[in-house]
Amino acid sequence: MQAFILTEPTGGAGLRLTDLPTPTPATGEVLVQVKAISLNPVDVKTAQGKAMYGRINAEPPVIPGWDISGVVSAVGAEVADFKVGDEVFGMVNFPGHGRAYAEYVAAPAAHLARKPSNISHAEAAAATLAALTAWQAFTAHAPVQAGQRVLVHAAAGGVGHFAVQLAKERGAYVIGTSSAAKRDFVRDLGADEHVDYQAGPFEQAVAPVDVVLDTVGGPNLVRSASVLKPGGRLVSILGMTPEATARAEERGATTTAFLVESNGAQMQELAARLADGRLRAHVSAALPFAELPAALRLVETGRTQGKVVVTL
Ligand SMILES: NC(=O)c1ccc[n+]([C@@H]2O[C@H](COP(=O)([O-])OP(=O)(O)OC[C@H]3O[C@@H](n4cnc5c(N)ncnc54)[C@H](OP(=O)(O)O)[C@@H]3O)[C@@H](O)[C@H]2O)c1
Repeated sequence: MQAFILTEPTGGAGLRLTDLPTPTPATGEVLVQVKAISLNPVDVKTAQGKAMYGRINAEPPVIPGWDISGVVSAVGAEVADFKVGDEVFGMVNFPGHGRAYAEYVAAPAAHLARKPSNISHAEAAAATLAALTAWQAFTAHAPVQAGQRVLVHAAAGGVGHFAVQLAKERGAYVIGTSSAAKRDFVRDLGADEHVDYQAGPFEQAVAPVDVVLDTVGGPNLVRSASVLKPGGRLVSILGMTPEATARAEERGATTTAFLVESNGAQMQELAARLADGRLRAHVSAALPFAELPAALRLVETGRTQGKVVVTL
């Protein structure tokens, strides 16, 4: 099979398209013939020698990537849920060595779900790491309840565009931040309010909220804590700072940060929503597999809308 391996931690320039043996699925795994791969900022960081690089570099050949959609082409022992020919999607082995930048991926069955037949492989691949992050944020780490006010940062981004839709489904009043150019996109996702974070400090435009999802990090964290209601919760996907936690506690609120984890049962929840239209994946760019390094450079800009994928 062909796969992109990371030969040195120099970003997209360190990727090489190479011939490798097709993997054999181990116990509990299926072999997926990949039809689409989605890319994430963690792919960029890992290719630059940060994030997951230390883990995956210990297991050569280093095949980055985690998000796939494709067709089951072989089934390992003790796999009951999938058979050859099933269309599946998921975030594979995160945090760990996903080996997704390849024509074939041996994936734990427990990390996959059936791809809804009404969406493309590109859309399915897009609705994996980013969608699971939003799901885990609003179900486990800062559970969103009906009637709550929820602020989603980078609402036009990969995680944000799923977060807006999932918070709306849970009955929240949703405020999304983006630049002015992406206002209509954010409103079309269902956001009740849009804040242009470049027009002025967002904390001056946002009335107190119950939940903030911070996808930006840095100084944005403490500023986000300052818009929490008493009893509110700041959930970050870029770590937490003592300053942000202190600011939240002054307001009678709490903070947390987490790393998304592979979870096939949660992928099934997402699949049900993608199937009936409660959730939509927005693919803003779909490039051929051979152009994966160029797709990674798009993600590296930090300015993309929805998701960037490559197709095979
Ligand atoms: N902990 C975890 O498990 C986890 C999981 C997923 C992602 N992450 C991290 O979370 C971050 C976001 O991930 P992502 O996939 O959503 O990224 P992404 O898709 O690359 O986000 C791009 C979006 O960010 C927006 N943006 C940039 N700066 C902003 C700001 N200051 N305020 C509001 N919007 C801003 C851009 O909108 P404009 O062009 O309009 O500015 C763009 O639409 C990344 O650093 C990623 O590594 C962590």
